[in-house]
Amino acid sequence: MRIGILGGAGQLALVISPALRKRFPQAEIIGTTRNSKAARKAPGMDRLLEFDPYYFDWQSLGRFDVLINAIGQFRRSDDDCFERAHMGISSLIIASRSLLGTPRLIQISALGADPEHPTPFLRTKGQADAILARESDVQILRPSIVCTPKTELVQRLRLLGRVERWLGGQLPLPREMMRSCIQPLLADDLAKAVVQSCLPNAAPRIAELAGPERISLRRLLALALKNVAQSKGRLPREVSLRAIQPFLRYGLAERFPSLITYNQIQLLLRDNTSSRDDTLTLLGYRPRSTLAYWQQALQS
Ligand SMILES: NC(=O)c1ccc[n+]([C@@H]2O[C@H](COP(=O)([O-])OP(=O)(O)OC[C@H]3O[C@@H](n4cnc5c(N)ncnc54)[C@H](OP(=O)(O)O)[C@@H]3O)[C@@H](O)[C@H]2O)c1
Repeated sequence: MRIGILGGAGQLALVISPALRKRFPQAEIIGTTRNSKAARKAPGMDRLLEFDPYYFDWQSLGRFDVLINAIGQFRRSDDDCFERAHMGISSLIIASRSLLGTPRLIQISALGADPEHPTPFLRTKGQADAILARESDVQILRPSIVCTPKTELVQRLRLLGRVERWLGGQLPLPREMMRSCIQPLLADDLAKAVVQSCLPNAAPRIAELAGPERISLRRLLALALKNVAQSKGRLPREVSLRAIQPFLRYGLAERFPSLITYNQIQLLLRDNTSSRDDTLTLLGYRPRSTLAYWQQALQS
């Protein structure tokens, strides 16, 4: 069996690859990255190939039984970047699929992906999924935030904690953001879902993957702030979104996109949750709690 992971140097590839190795010990597991000098090979991966999907010859990758698309873009803020990383890559996969031996495709999308979504990240994810869903032998996984060692949300919350300290407990945040909930998933559970998806006819074909708890951002921020001595664990000031929107967009996101992009702010203003039915069906067990992860990640 030959398995390819596009985006093979990313966060999720690091957890998917060892799980694939464990389940398919004889398989050849190949990852791809655009920058093999800077990237490191994930445990369990045989090789990490330098490959830019836009400029390299897909035939050079050889034939696969399963191809996992773990390419995605979350940090940048320009629409073009989302389109290239999401719809563009899906189109290239379809165009090159026969050259790759018509492998089974596993698309790592995101919970809430929807071609009509108001935020560019989830809209382009939804459009990318729609391109692939027209094909046969395709599994689309839509995970919630996955609890990896470098989870983006942990970095942002820790940063917010530090900003709160500089501002002496006066950090204003929109009420809507504090109330919105996420439903994160442990990395091991995501990896198990990918392994299951390698088997033909894994059900359901489009699966939303979410953990057992709906956790509000207020609760996560409270954990992050407990670690900031001077804030005394006090939560940020809650204000109406209308009052703070211009500041969030022009004062914060446009001036300091490396801190947070407007796309990320927009995503945090909405619930990102789902039923656990698909996760249960695919895993065959109840997804495990992530609460200990958040406590450790935000308070260490
Ligand atoms: N991590 C999560 O919590 C989470 C949750 C839900 C969904 N997802 C989705 O799961 C997938 C993997 O996530 P991840 O956390 O592993 O992301 P990641 O660490 O950012 O890795 C994604 C990889 O995509 C590649 N990439 C980005 N833009 C590209 C482009 N235009 N052309 C070619 N390659 C490009 C980059 O590879 P190189 O720079 O190495 O070439 C990068 O390493 C993504 O689609 C993400 O949206 C992740």
